[in-house]
Amino acid sequence: MGSSVVVPTASSGPDASDESTVLESGPPGGQWWRSAVFYQVYPRSFADSGGDGVGDLGGLLERLGYLELLGVDALWICPVMRSPMADGGYDVSDPRDIDPLFGDIAVLDEVLEEAHDRGMRVTMDLVPNHTSDRHPWFTAALRAAPGSPERERYIFRDGRGPKGAEPPNNWPSIFGGPAWTRVTEPNGKPGQWYLHIFAPEQPDLNWENPEVVADFEQTMRFWLNRGVDGFRIDVAHGMAKPPGLPDMDRVNTAMLVHDDNDPRFNDPGVHDIHRRLRKVLDEYPDAVSIGEVWVDDNVRFGEYVRSDELHLAFNFRLAETSFDAAKIRAAVDNSIEAVAAVGAVPTWTLSNHDIEREVTRYGGGAVGLRRARAMILLELALPGAVFLYNGSELGLPNVDDLPEDALRDPTWERSGHTERGRDGCRVPIPWEGRQPPFGFTSAEQSWLPIPPQWAGLTVESQLERLDSMVSLCRMAIELRSVRPEFAGDGLEWYGSPVGCLAFRRAGGLICAVNTSSVPTPLPPGEVLLSSVPLDGAMLPPDTAVWLV
Ligand code: NOJ
Repeated sequence: MGSSVVVPTASSGPDASDESTVLESGPPGGQWWRSAVFYQVYPRSFADSGGDGVGDLGGLLERLGYLELLGVDALWICPVMRSPMADGGYDVSDPRDIDPLFGDIAVLDEVLEEAHDRGMRVTMDLVPNHTSDRHPWFTAALRAAPGSPERERYIFRDGRGPKGAEPPNNWPSIFGGPAWTRVTEPNGKPGQWYLHIFAPEQPDLNWENPEVVADFEQTMRFWLNRGVDGFRIDVAHGMAKPPGLPDMDRVNTAMLVHDDNDPRFNDPGVHDIHRRLRKVLDEYPDAVSIGEVWVDDNVRFGEYVRSDELHLAFNFRLAETSFDAAKIRAAVDNSIEAVAAVGAVPTWTLSNHDIEREVTRYGGGAVGLRRARAMILLELALPGAVFLYNGSELGLPNVDDLPEDALRDPTWERSGHTERGRDGCRVPIPWEGRQPPFGFTSAEQSWLPIPPQWAGLTVESQLERLDSMVSLCRMAIELRSVRPEFAGDGLEWYGSPVGCLAFRRAGGLICAVNTSSVPTPLPPGEVLLSSVPLDGAMLPPDTAVWLV
């Protein structure tokens, strides 16, 4: 597979870092993130420097040259804080320290310094909705009495029914089973219940408690003072809970799904919390916040990115859309409309560590890869901030046949081994060589096994080929950053045949995608880049093109 290109080659190789790059402040008024390409690093799967089979910050440090070569503007590093790892680090026991599995603060400092020298910003994941059950606050709460200040940091309630043996309400956990766990009181008797929207190892915090707010503000300042450029905020539509914690009307036990009427999320009280957090971020003029906001309604979604709340919010519509021109167009319109009303910037993402990889979603194999190539061109042609999940630039598929004893996602246990969960999209990056673990680790095995069939997908082999997915991404990211045709905040649709879409950016870029099964005439213009080589004046099926 190849691509038609007119493109300058990237100016520096993976190790060419002798000239320091000064971080550019981006568009006037700062706001470097308005059209940035973010690269999501899932640290345990990115690169291992410690030889234990698990990726770490040292591994990231060693591979920063690759990310510079790829041309991304910023990193989003998934949680690396101290954690018992019940949910891949989203169960934090000390939010102001690095887990030894990933390194220490000194390595993080090195990552920050070197990433900045290479012209990349660094954002980190913060987890405000819950802590680990091993966080000192929670262990203190278990030792303390009902109604004590220690319990007031979390959401403890008496149970319902005789002897309080029933959970306080009917909410299920996102990972399966009830969202409540009953504790044994210090006197040895069954006692209160605590809320955990996710795993029992992730007790929800009580954001009505000023101590919780103050502690989170301290955490933000701690990392910002070290030079972090902002945060991805986990479950940014959580935190506030409806008064009285009413039952759900319809109990939705489907795991990892979302619904705007779900009382566990999107309570209006959450906006006051975001306003508080924004005040802290505003002390650091270049810092950005990006919320994980699973909200479909455009008005309610837009509320999260009002000028005094989050800077950006993930919009997952494109990631939830099949490879269908009409649906893609609707998703694009929707995402732009959702933020336009409040003057915010749209965000685009095709995958992350919670979502099946796009190559698989689009049909798998050669067809899935071909469509993923087309979609990455569509994504990078759009106005706003783009988020690429590590491995998507390699066209990695999901791995759906991981051995059962390798599975780590809490969903697997909580579902009684009926749902495999998200490990299939978290398989480590194949870097080089012909056999697993492909340079990911010096250990014999990586924490999740890498399929031997990925020999042709390694970074090394793809960088050598101009027709590879990684070369396509590199060229596209470079063009996006240097060409004036990508200017402008909006886009204008062209009429196009059924199964196709085409739009124009104000700066003059035209992007066309053919999701149908028949070739369609190319729009007029000079081809800048295409997802596969073009032969003549037609755009083949499962292909995207950029023209100017
Ligand atoms: C969203 C994160 O992306 C996911 O990986 C995690 O399991 C939940 N939040 C709980 O923190």
